[in-house]
Amino acid sequence: MTTPIEYPFILVNLKTYEESLGPKAVALASIAREISQQTGVCIAVAPQTVDLSPVIKAVKIPVFAQHIDPVGYGRFTGHVLPEAIAGAGCVGTLINHSERRLPLEAIEATVKRAKEAGLFQVVCVDSVETGRSVAPYSPDVIAIEPPELIGSGIPVSKARPEVVSGSVDECRKVNPDVNVLCGAGITSGEDVSAALRLGSAGVLVASGVVKAADPRAKLLDLAQAMSE
Ligand code: G3P
Repeated sequence: MTTPIEYPFILVNLKTYEESLGPKAVALASIAREISQQTGVCIAVAPQTVDLSPVIKAVKIPVFAQHIDPVGYGRFTGHVLPEAIAGAGCVGTLINHSERRLPLEAIEATVKRAKEAGLFQVVCVDSVETGRSVAPYSPDVIAIEPPELIGSGIPVSKARPEVVSGSVDECRKVNPDVNVLCGAGITSGEDVSAALRLGSAGVLVASGVVKAADPRAKLLDLAQAMSE
């Protein structure tokens, strides 16, 4: 599919942090847009579902949903319909984030529905093995995030380098077209450089930016490491 996503790529997951809800989601997206223009690095954000439309309307930046459900039009009250997310103007979606885990068959069904709706798919996995299992579903991106490092400030690219390089190797063996991102504990340009050296096509980051004292300076540090 044709998307505005270019590599290396930074995806900022806004999660459900108080610092990234409502107008603060729009403010963070504006910062991301500014840093992206300044450095030439592709930066996307993934706000809460209710914040998708306001962010999309306010800021020209790729926007991702944090989750979709593998349902179609009809009687699926409370589910997140892929076509509704695409119709709102999102370019893609996270699938199987560590904080929104799905069984393998649901991941496969969700990737399929995301493709039907024209959404770019970033499937998160917790291990090399799970990466190998989801690679045959041919998502656009597989993002490796060891759960114990999420929100820890201890970067996966330094603490578990073998998990990043192992995921790149194993996922590519199954599907040579897949791009692999890494995330968990990324807080500095140095962490980003280490991730790229391990074969990662970019990073998935949350607290390192959202909870930073100066999110603009932090995101600039990450993006500059990507453009070096
Ligand atoms: O989705 C990104 C994520 O789970 C990593 O979180 O806070 O360690 O950057 P964090």
